Amino acid sequence: MVNRRQWIAGAAALPAAAAAQSAQPKNIVISSNNGLRCCARAMEILKTGGDTLDAVIAGVNINEEDPEDTSVGYGGLPNEEGVVELDASLMHGPTRRAGSVASLRNIKYPSKVAKLVMTETDHIMLVGEGALRFAKAYGFPEENLLTEKSRLAWLTWKRSQRDGGGHNNWTDGLDAPAKKGQVPAARLRQQFPHADDETLAWAWDMTVNPPTGTINCLSLNTRGDMSGVTTTSGLAWKIPGRVGDSPIIGAGVYVDQEVGAAGSTGRGEENIRVAGAHTIVENMRHGMPPKEACLDCLKRIARNYGNDPARLAKFDINFYALRKDGVYAGTSLWSGRIRQGKVTRSKFAVNDGGQSRLEDCEYLFERKG
Ligand code: GLY
Repeated sequence: MVNRRQWIAGAAALPAAAAAQSAQPKNIVISSNNGLRCCARAMEILKTGGDTLDAVIAGVNINEEDPEDTSVGYGGLPNEEGVVELDASLMHGPTRRAGSVASLRNIKYPSKVAKLVMTETDHIMLVGEGALRFAKAYGFPEENLLTEKSRLAWLTWKRSQRDGGGHNNWTDGLDAPAKKGQVPAARLRQQFPHADDETLAWAWDMTVNPPTGTINCLSLNTRGDMSGVTTTSGLAWKIPGRVGDSPIIGAGVYVDQEVGAAGSTGRGEENIRVAGAHTIVENMRHGMPPKEACLDCLKRIARNYGNDPARLAKFDINFYALRKDGVYAGTSLWSGRIRQGKVTRSKFAVNDGGQSRLEDCEYLFERKG
């Protein structure tokens, strides 16, 4: 017979994955830092016994319809032609099914369309014109997703571009009076006289540092069901048709509720090359805790650049992981990101039944100002 001391020693020796096997699941939602309201909404649904996928979709719908979230849905920053193109994917743990859309134009809720791809077709991914026709077949209205704020940022970017001779057809002509020494802020003020200073500073920041925002949201309920979704307008000023990691199952999101779920935000090109979300779930399957599973994935990205900090400093990427027992992690390549000249600490959102809160991400490299 095993005495108490032996039993405790044995339990401590259990690999993390086996320990997770025996833990009691609980209601918990995590997301990227833009998901405080998203997590709260998803938690409301979990508390009423709703499905984990319906919960995360309802959560990210808040971001998809929010014109102030310029990295997701309506108001997202457009491609280089000024057209908003959306990507989304999701996985439903209980049924092990998945759905995805990419390069979807004019439809506000790509996550809802991705769910219909999952439930109403024999496919997993629809893109471009086909995805649009499918959405319209299900009654989604076509809408212009470009807000005035995002249009201003797009025009700012367009006017900032220069050929080898320093020329740009989208600025005033060669015959215009000289404006020697004029700083960008003054030029912007002249171009957009009705915009406030904050919007102009933001537009210039978006021009200089094109963002890849996005929202990822992962959920677990008391039955042990798990789901995940990722939705985005992708990289600002992208070539039309560019698809990032968000709609790629195994990169933008991955769920195996026997182990856990993972997702990503940030520069999608790096994530695709390491199949991030799938890699993290597999890391957890082999016993790594969520934090280590994510950091390992970030190390794979760093290795793709020979661990050269100068090249790695040009982008950021975040991974999120939620294990089946509710242990979670939010991680980032860099300790913070530079926005409008300041380093802001990388964070992620959590809701475990009370108010949503932001927690600091664990990170691989310290970003110095
Ligand atoms: N992670 C979003 C994108 O790169 O499109």
